[in-house]
Amino acid sequence: MKTLNLIGCGRVGRTLGRLWQQHQTLQIQDVLTTSPESAQAAVDFMGAGHAVASLAQMRPADFWLIAVPDRQILESARVMAQTLAGMPPAMAFHASGALGSAVLAPLRERGWHVGSAHCILSFATPAAAVQQFAGTPCGLEGDAAALHELRSVFTAIGAECFAVEADKKVLYHAAAVFGTNFLPVLQALAEDLWRDSGVPTELLPRLRASLLRNAVDNVLALGPAGALTGPAARGDTALVQRQGQAVSDWDPTAGEAYRALSELARRLAREGKLRPD
Ligand SMILES: NC(=O)c1ccc[n+]([C@@H]2O[C@H](COP(=O)([O-])OP(=O)(O)OC[C@H]3O[C@@H](n4cnc5c(N)ncnc54)[C@H](OP(=O)(O)O)[C@@H]3O)[C@@H](O)[C@H]2O)c1
Repeated sequence: MKTLNLIGCGRVGRTLGRLWQQHQTLQIQDVLTTSPESAQAAVDFMGAGHAVASLAQMRPADFWLIAVPDRQILESARVMAQTLAGMPPAMAFHASGALGSAVLAPLRERGWHVGSAHCILSFATPAAAVQQFAGTPCGLEGDAAALHELRSVFTAIGAECFAVEADKKVLYHAAAVFGTNFLPVLQALAEDLWRDSGVPTELLPRLRASLLRNAVDNVLALGPAGALTGPAARGDTALVQRQGQAVSDWDPTAGEAYRALSELARRLAREGKLRPD
């Protein structure tokens, strides 16, 4: 079985590591995080691997997953290229949606294969993500050898792999931000507004469950344009303006969001899409 080292092992690293361990796809070898304690906790969660305290302690491996926060990826690649200079080049990849494999240039320049694999799943907790992972779409990008190897190991744990263009990753990732990250923000906004307009706090979970479930079911069944309702979709411009002003008075940033989203809702209702083809 091929071996995997992990640099960074939080929500994504732990989830993928545990899945590869469970499916016997990759043998988890060495794990480095910001502290031996958190590395050991990751090893305990994955049920495999060996926690180390520094890069110099890591043994050669076939795959190196750099699962640190995006802002740390380039620096991790730089330090790896220097510290591991005596090691045979292997395959390094990261999990960022917004960055391409070009950020791993320090390793590529030393003969490593490099790639990126972005799973379209909200890894809220590793325990939940392990359960939810099967069928997750996973956008791959990198050199030919990296693409081939990544497709194989991600398919083995149930991912549905597709290719992403490196120079479009920022926009590609913005889509995921709209599709998932903003949903809790919009929900929190709605609940603050309900609370401030006098809805009893104990009713909020019921409002949340009912509206959110309906909206998700309708979008899944009818698509975004078919599921759209509300004043902007109905063309009730006077109400949109009055409501936009009331929300702006309540919170200026929320007011801007209300106006921008109302304009997009109006376009979606009228054209069936947001932008011309
Ligand atoms: N979370 C998601 O839903 C999601 C979805 C798709 C893609 N991603 C991508 O996955 C990657 C990892 O995100 P995440 O959510 O798993 O992050 P995370 O939960 O914050 O975990 C980050 C890990 O990196 C470690 N770390 C930080 N700096 C380090 C360094 N200099 N050297 C070694 N280890 C370091 C942390 O150590 P400690 O454990 O000691 O803190 C932690 O183990 C990112 O590129 C992110 O964009 C995330």
